[in-house]
Amino acid sequence: MLTILFIKNSEVIITMCGIIGYIGTKNAVSLVLSGLKKLEYRGYDSAGIATISNKLVVKKDVGKIDEVFSKIDVSNIKSNIAIGHTRWATHGKVTKENAHPHTDCKNEIAIVHNGIIENFKELKEELIKKGHVFKSETDSEVIAHLIEEEMKNKDFVNAFFECLKKLKGSYAIVAIYEKEKKMVAARKESPLVVGVANHGFFISSDVPSFIDETKKVIYLYDGDVVVINNGLKIYNNGVEVKREIDSVEWDAEQAKKGVFKHFMLKEITEQANVIKKAIAQDDDIIKEIVDSMKNAEGIYFVGCGTAYHACLEGSYIFSKVAKLHVNVCYAHEFPNYVHFLTPKSLVIAISQSGETADTLTAIRAAKEKGAKVISIVNVAGSTLVRESHKVLLQHAGPEICVLSTKSYTSQLAILVLLAYAFVDKLDEAKSKLKELIRYIYYLTSKNTQDYIKKLAEILKDSKDIYILGRGLQYPTALEAALKIKEVSYIHAEGFAGGELKHGNIALIEKGTPCIVFTSKDTESDIISNAQELKSRGAYVIGIGPKNNDVFDFFIKVREAEEANSICQIIPIQILAYQLAILRGLDPDKPRNLAKSVTVK
Ligand code: F6R
Repeated sequence: MLTILFIKNSEVIITMCGIIGYIGTKNAVSLVLSGLKKLEYRGYDSAGIATISNKLVVKKDVGKIDEVFSKIDVSNIKSNIAIGHTRWATHGKVTKENAHPHTDCKNEIAIVHNGIIENFKELKEELIKKGHVFKSETDSEVIAHLIEEEMKNKDFVNAFFECLKKLKGSYAIVAIYEKEKKMVAARKESPLVVGVANHGFFISSDVPSFIDETKKVIYLYDGDVVVINNGLKIYNNGVEVKREIDSVEWDAEQAKKGVFKHFMLKEITEQANVIKKAIAQDDDIIKEIVDSMKNAEGIYFVGCGTAYHACLEGSYIFSKVAKLHVNVCYAHEFPNYVHFLTPKSLVIAISQSGETADTLTAIRAAKEKGAKVISIVNVAGSTLVRESHKVLLQHAGPEICVLSTKSYTSQLAILVLLAYAFVDKLDEAKSKLKELIRYIYYLTSKNTQDYIKKLAEILKDSKDIYILGRGLQYPTALEAALKIKEVSYIHAEGFAGGELKHGNIALIEKGTPCIVFTSKDTESDIISNAQELKSRGAYVIGIGPKNNDVFDFFIKVREAEEANSICQIIPIQILAYQLAILRGLDPDKPRNLAKSVTVK
């Protein structure tokens, strides 16, 4: 997640969107609309739909999906073919014209696109010279005009193939044409899955959009082109290919809010179950990964954002439990850091979505050096799963809220299992984690939430919050700051306790809120940090096993050694959620952010 902006003509256009298409025997408009709602986490500035009912009908506007379709009534349109799009742009223009779907000059072809067409300027100039008239400022619109241009001497499907040959960049595209009841789609470096229902086919950015209708999915490969006519055909490099139909292991209920007001709270409270699932990992896969680690000359953990924090935490866990040095690098920095990799190096990528472009670039750079790549991923069938030599699936279930919560603690639990397995103590790790499950239920309970709400009331108008931890709690401090800032927009900064005197203390004033994570291993040093803060007037919040006079507010979290971070981040996730609510913000859709950062 994070904002990825594509700058052109001094305008900023974001490229993370949700797309969906349906063709079959049911009401396509209502299926696409309900699918779009479930993709809204991918973007929520404007939305649109295109369908064929005698003629091509396109309806779109700015606003969240509900706003758009309360202004435009499409419920009376009966059709069994439709495509839809939900988009997110920050500054730059959020206009009706820039909303998808986009059409050709004759309004016969409609397309939806997620990704970046890097050579759109050249293509657009050529098309304009040939007489095409553009209605938007987007890169995506060239796709509709290119298909139209190619259709001067080809049919729709072949024109689509020709169009793809001319596109540079990344894309997931779905297109329809008024005169032929066919749907075509293609993916290159942007996610796209096919849903196979008994009444038709879906093509979408993500499974939750059609999980109510089918659990059967085809995860498309890079370069795949899909043609749906009476049946479904998939091509790659011009040749028809067979792709397996997988079954999604979670069900529609898991992708719904149920009794919860927001996915964020739902996912926070799911964490006890998620840890259970992590413990139930296949021992053989764990052992195979541990063997690869033992045979490697140099191990590197890579990831971005929260997943990076899991990597950093993992390196501390491995140091402590397995006495093993693991290097850690931001995935986006890794291509600048690979010069010394050899075929004996091992790169372990961590990613919830498995679609983060930076993480994919990192593992591709590693593979070019001959290094082995293992991934810890939540989303089955994702690109990272497909491109890694070995994969450990988290089985944390769908994470819909833009913020990573349950996927983070699941990653931490898996890292604890791996570190203990490295020293032949996998069973010990399992029992340690099992013992925590009941406690995690308590940490996510209504009681804990009510207690943390008191802290949220105190902090809700803060300008800055500083967060300190040492050892295993240092990555926890970084993650805590990320959670608070991305959902409450309060500036929060995490740092290692030892850094306080090296500069950060200059920022502390009377009343500055500072959160201090403590543990049995770091107690004396971190408490002296807390005292340093207190003597500069800070409002000190302690999180850990033991209260202390220095704390103005204390959240007790019992000592769990290497699993401390799993337990200690939970109160902060709840705090971040409460802060968003008290500040009148939507925690599931923080500004400028989208769930999967599918472009660099
Ligand atoms: C923070 C968050 C992001 C992601 C990051 C990597 O709450 O969600 O920082 O952790 O964008 O995403 P994945 O794990 O999908 O690779």
